[in-house]
Amino acid sequence: MTNLTMQFLRKPLTTGAICPSSPELSRLMASDIGIETANVVVELGPGTGAITRFILEKLQKKSVFFAIELNESVLPVFKERFPDRDIYNESASHLPEILEHRGLPAADVILSGLPWASFSSALQDEILAAILKALPDGGAFATFAYLQGAILPTGIKFRKKLKQYFSRVETSRIAWMNLPPAFVYRCWK
Ligand SMILES: C[S@@+](CC[C@H](N)C(=O)[O-])C[C@H]1O[C@@H](n2cnc3c(N)ncnc32)[C@H](O)[C@@H]1O
Repeated sequence: MTNLTMQFLRKPLTTGAICPSSPELSRLMASDIGIETANVVVELGPGTGAITRFILEKLQKKSVFFAIELNESVLPVFKERFPDRDIYNESASHLPEILEHRGLPAADVILSGLPWASFSSALQDEILAAILKALPDGGAFATFAYLQGAILPTGIKFRKKLKQYFSRVETSRIAWMNLPPAFVYRCWK
């Protein structure tokens, strides 16, 4: 049983996935979103760091990276895998305050592994507003959605919400080898 599977059994709503994202989905998340040229990159809900590895492969040496994860039980695994990277045990909605605390004006690229489908509409709005506040004009945001969830009414509502919040929204190809199959929303402010 993976650490994420155990967390799913303990906290199904905040974990939102039985398995960590596959290398196929993680690679898609880190692609075509501008990590290579970004000065500040933030990951929301990294869990044990399945996607983090692929983000860090593309990050410039001089660039800033940090993560925000609500579930303190997964922090030791993340810290062991990425000892030189900062992770805050906070809700993603506190991103603007964390940037301010670090003296950073904005995050150029924000990647999310957050379980949007388990969130209430109010929590989705709270976190999307925080993301928008943290991005500069033209800044990029990537998040994934499970294929089966995206065609349900809540998934369709979330897609509409992304289109309301961002000036451009694109979808990636489907990562069929992920469990369950998923795709990436790429959004620009
Ligand atoms: C579906 S798991 C994804 C883990 C990993 N990114 C992956 O793709 O395998 C969702 C993660 O988001 C975290 N999370 C849920 N709500 C959060 C919030 N409000 N702020 C930050 N992290 C949150 C969960 O604890 C969990 O680690």
